[in-house]
Amino acid sequence: MKKLFVTAATMLAFAVPALADGDAEAGKKAFNLCKACHSVVTPAGEALVKGGKVGPNLYDVIGRQVASMADYTLYGEGILAVGATGMVWTDDELEVYMTDPNIWIKDKTGNPDAKSKMTGKTAKNQEDIVAYLLSLVQ
Ligand code: HEC
Repeated sequence: MKKLFVTAATMLAFAVPALADGDAEAGKKAFNLCKACHSVVTPAGEALVKGGKVGPNLYDVIGRQVASMADYTLYGEGILAVGATGMVWTDDELEVYMTDPNIWIKDKTGNPDAKSKMTGKTAKNQEDIVAYLLSLVQ
């Protein structure tokens, strides 16, 4: 438990510079791409971004264990295997993931046949999107 806490604290320390790196305003616009499939809803149920439900809720995703949204039942085998290793989303991992989820899944699982169920991806504004998602956390 202590180790977990230290890890979480380290992650937070890394998450802060990302806020400065990316531009949350630009990220808000760029997130329109993601909104087709993702909402951002607080634990209290407030929808900060009303989006699709094809993908999991992205509230406070950075620092959260991969594939761990309890009320989301559509995770594919690949991302579940990564989540089972205990891996937690960092700003860097998230930037690589949204650039090409399939490459990320193959890399993390070590399985060249592993596939992502996320068909969305983006070649730009990755840091901005991360900054935007961090800015939404209350
Ligand atoms: C066409 C629909 C679609 C679009 C567009 C999309 N996603 Fe996804 N996303 C998904 C699905 C489906 C999953 C679940 C992936 C799986 O099960 O392999 C997912 C998973 C994720 C996860 C993992 C969450 C977790 O609980 O571990 C993150 C983070 C994410 N998406 C971010 C983004 C971002 C950022 C964008 C915009 C650049 C985006 N997504 C665009 C459908 C989409």
